[in-house]
Amino acid sequence: GDTRKIRASLLDWYDENQRDLPWRRRATTKYGNGKDVKEEEEEDEKRAYEFWVSEVMLQQTRVQAVIGNYNRWMQKWPTLQHLSQASLEEVNEMWAGLGYYRRSRFLLEGAKMIVSGGSEFPNTVSALRKVPGIGDYTAGAIASIAFKQVVPVVDGNVVRVLARLKAISANPKEKHTVKNFWKLAAQLVDPLRPGDFNQSLMELGATLCTPLNPNCTTCPVSSQCSALRNSRNDESVMVTDY
Ligand code: ADE
Repeated sequence: GDTRKIRASLLDWYDENQRDLPWRRRATTKYGNGKDVKEEEEEDEKRAYEFWVSEVMLQQTRVQAVIGNYNRWMQKWPTLQHLSQASLEEVNEMWAGLGYYRRSRFLLEGAKMIVSGGSEFPNTVSALRKVPGIGDYTAGAIASIAFKQVVPVVDGNVVRVLARLKAISANPKEKHTVKNFWKLAAQLVDPLRPGDFNQSLMELGATLCTPLNPNCTTCPVSSQCSALRNSRNDESVMVTDY
């Protein structure tokens, strides 16, 4: 039904239109690519580290400004093990310009914690949530993108995309509203390509399904979109008047 169509349309669109971002270059591993299990696990852990850093940077900074900072970070600390050896001064120096130094400190503390615990990168949402600074959003992103766990990710972009797609009238400031979007996202996430699916929702929100003047004419899910059907696609999030 609708869910399958939405998944397929979003994934096809993402395959063709995703932005070329440095942390996505490793994220092309497909099943059955001939790698052995151990190699694939190592690849997943490297991907987890790279997406962790990128997602934390993206929480406060626009993509275009993150790219340069991300590349410099990875040149200095290409792996979790490298980062775990860094000093707080070095990490803060690298973070200059990104703001909110709490986040860089959490990255360092998290790296030290994971490496001292035997180096294996936590690969489930509940294990990831125990790492300093990793909340629901980052845990869902790393678990789905790096470890192929079938879990949702909800950020501001995803809320807007889903609110439009399903013409949801809700007060975004209320706690249970956000909970409902996580539920909806959990029902929608593609079971075979959860990481790409989650990124396709975020990517759609960042590039086409923007707060103002959404580009519905090139949107892959326009024919499934309730807001467009009801000519309410110009609204950022549908809010009822309580
Ligand atoms: N914004 C933050 N993280 C993102 C991701 N992984 N893909 C697209 N947009 C994002």
